[in-house]
Amino acid sequence: VQFKNIVVQQTGKIYRITFNRPQKKNALTPEMYNEIVVAMKEAANGDSLLTVFTGSGDFYCSGNDLSNFAVDLSNIKQMAADARKLLQDYVAAYVEHPKPLVALVNGPAVGISVTVLGLFDLVYASDKAWFHTPFSNLGQSPEGISSSSFPQLMGLGKATEMLLFNKKLTPEEAHRLGLVTEVFPHQNFEKETTRRLTEYSELPPEPYIDHWRKVNETECSLIEGRWQSQECLTAIAKFFTRSKAS
Ligand code: COA
Repeated sequence: VQFKNIVVQQTGKIYRITFNRPQKKNALTPEMYNEIVVAMKEAANGDSLLTVFTGSGDFYCSGNDLSNFAVDLSNIKQMAADARKLLQDYVAAYVEHPKPLVALVNGPAVGISVTVLGLFDLVYASDKAWFHTPFSNLGQSPEGISSSSFPQLMGLGKATEMLLFNKKLTPEEAHRLGLVTEVFPHQNFEKETTRRLTEYSELPPEPYIDHWRKVNETECSLIEGRWQSQECLTAIAKFFTRSKAS
């Protein structure tokens, strides 16, 4: 498969997807969402054992490409419906992915590139990374299952600070909150994480693939319930009824 804005590479048992629009800090265009879903299917069906995400250049990813929102207002309803389908299918690709997901957060991460990290199995971060989900700044609401996964990871308060009140985290804070597995000095990041992942990918595959399949099934059932939960609905309602500073 030919991709335009991502680079896909399998080395041994490691399938690596690199966001590759460094001049735009790897902002995700609709085309990229589709490319990533296709790459993840390829990873799911192939003989790799780990699916790894990283970014090219100095950023991991600056989130959704905001230029998509410079819209023709007469067509806004259809545009929102199309964007919603794209988003839902994109997040489903992570939820349903049958292999361990690993993020190598080489630099700052924004928006959906942060929220889906709650679905990752390992998140290694460079000490040059930071994590920001400025949805309410932009008049938007959290996605990427973060309204369920973040409270589970870090507790409702810390999740609320991030997802509703735009609190930006340093890599050390993200590590303390459980979003990041380990932080590495930037100069060793690529070498050290590659060494680790190569070692992990050489372990006997069947036991953990089986295990992750079961966990995936359980989690999807759980998430289906969470989407209908009062907590999720209340959190979103709370965002829309928040009192604004003047
Ligand atoms: N969508 C579209 N374009 C984006 C983008 C995004 N999410 N993030 C960065 N870019 C573009 C910039 O417009 C700029 O383009 P230009 O060179 O043609 O002007 C280029 O990428 C470089 O970004 P710049 O702002 O100059 O770099 P910076 O280091 O000063 O800041 C960010 C980087 C990511 C902090 C800043 O660009 C930003 O806040 N982007 C928006 C992030 C966001 O809110 N995402 C959605 C979250 S829900």
